Amino acid sequence: MALSDFDLVFFGGSGDLAMRKLLPAMYARDVANDLPATARIICVGREDMTQEDFLQMIETNSKPNVKETVDEAAWKKFLERITWVAVDAVNLQSYAALADALRKDESLTRVYYLATPPSLFARICDNLAASGLATANSRVVLEKPLGRDLESAKQINAEVGKVFAESQIYRIDHYLGKETVQNLLALRFGNVLFEPLWRREWISDVQITIAEKIGVGNRLGYYDNSGALRDMLQNHLLQLLCIVAMEPPTSIAPDAVRDSKLQVLRSLKRFTPTTLAQNIVRGQYRSGYVDGQPVPGYRDEPGAPKQSKTETFVAMKAEIDTWRWAGVPFYLRTGKRMADRLAEIVVRFKPIPHSIFNQPTSSFQPNSLVIRLQPDEGLSLNLMSKTPGDGMRLKQAELELDFREQFKAPRMEAYERLLMDVLRGQLTLFMRGDELEAAWEWVEPILDYWEQDDTSPVPYSSGTWGPAASSALIGRDALQWREEALPED
Ligand code: BG6
Repeated sequence: MALSDFDLVFFGGSGDLAMRKLLPAMYARDVANDLPATARIICVGREDMTQEDFLQMIETNSKPNVKETVDEAAWKKFLERITWVAVDAVNLQSYAALADALRKDESLTRVYYLATPPSLFARICDNLAASGLATANSRVVLEKPLGRDLESAKQINAEVGKVFAESQIYRIDHYLGKETVQNLLALRFGNVLFEPLWRREWISDVQITIAEKIGVGNRLGYYDNSGALRDMLQNHLLQLLCIVAMEPPTSIAPDAVRDSKLQVLRSLKRFTPTTLAQNIVRGQYRSGYVDGQPVPGYRDEPGAPKQSKTETFVAMKAEIDTWRWAGVPFYLRTGKRMADRLAEIVVRFKPIPHSIFNQPTSSFQPNSLVIRLQPDEGLSLNLMSKTPGDGMRLKQAELELDFREQFKAPRMEAYERLLMDVLRGQLTLFMRGDELEAAWEWVEPILDYWEQDDTSPVPYSSGTWGPAASSALIGRDALQWREEALPED
């Protein structure tokens, strides 16, 4: 579907996200000829810069982040779409400059993308409304962190909701923009094979891992007040869990999908102080080696408090109280400075009930489906298969679907897809306000408990898969994380 003409406004337009992700994403769509010829991008920020200064800034800070080789002629044309406007987001008067830069035609799509700290969301929305800029054709995009607990999330929803209707609000979780997440929807609901097995009778457990090699980098100021639970689990991991566990929605329409996801969030078993201590491990990286290079521990990162209790790793066993999932553990895990960068979902099926071969049932690896989001995108289904040659010996083999190999189509980054969806008015891949609140409501007891708890996160060496307590957590159920269970050749 061709896009209609738009004015896209990036608040935080000179910031890190705009430079690293948003502008390169828009350039990629421009080169692909997806943008209307007259569409415009207005970057807004407090700095008193000229248009030339800003274009120079993009040249230095944004262009190197374009994934493909830059086509200089196309890049020049892309820059012609961009205008820099100095606006102090908290000062109503300064919105006059933004009003001047926007086209007056109210039938145009207007998107206000708030790549700013959440403390500014309410002021920006109020000021847009007071300046008459929040038109019926406007949309607002909210970047994370969408609150730091239930109360602050409710406040954001309420304040933004005073100005924009829910159908105009796009809450970003960039994991939902990843190709594989949509492929998971295709796998579950575009095939008849899996759905009958997608339940407690056939599935033994589900593991969802997002592991990163990077440390906290230059984001310590934000991260030390956040930690892995808020930064990754409350949003990305729970969204993946929702897509894996949700009931079939009646259609792909935004509210049908979001209703199904909400049901999962509301069915998550609440933790109590006792179950929480048994089922959640939090860790913090110490020094170690990543890719053979020495790296400092979290508390030695520049600016880190020496006694910081911020967790850089979380592993937990979650449960969903529904007929479909009762008793099936969902192990969730995320961490920084881990042994590898990967994001994957592993659905493990139950073991065979009886062996007819001269091998004990225990020598059969249960079937598993591995859905890879990162670094490559694909699926593998592990089956038991006969080894070639004489005799009947069975071994695990993989049926492999590599999305890139299979489709040979150019890749689309998550932000490209999500920006296009915003411009198209397609809300399916964005969180609804009640979903956001339900996710915070579920993590809140964990946050409260840690707040009062005097103990520190368990240390783990950089370049490992996290603290031993994480293996023990899953080991108590006689299971292993996937990398611990990989069969020997
Ligand atoms: C962000 C977190 O939401 O996701 C970061 O704030 C994290 O801490 C990033 O590094 C990971 O995203 P991706 O797409 O690189 O896996």
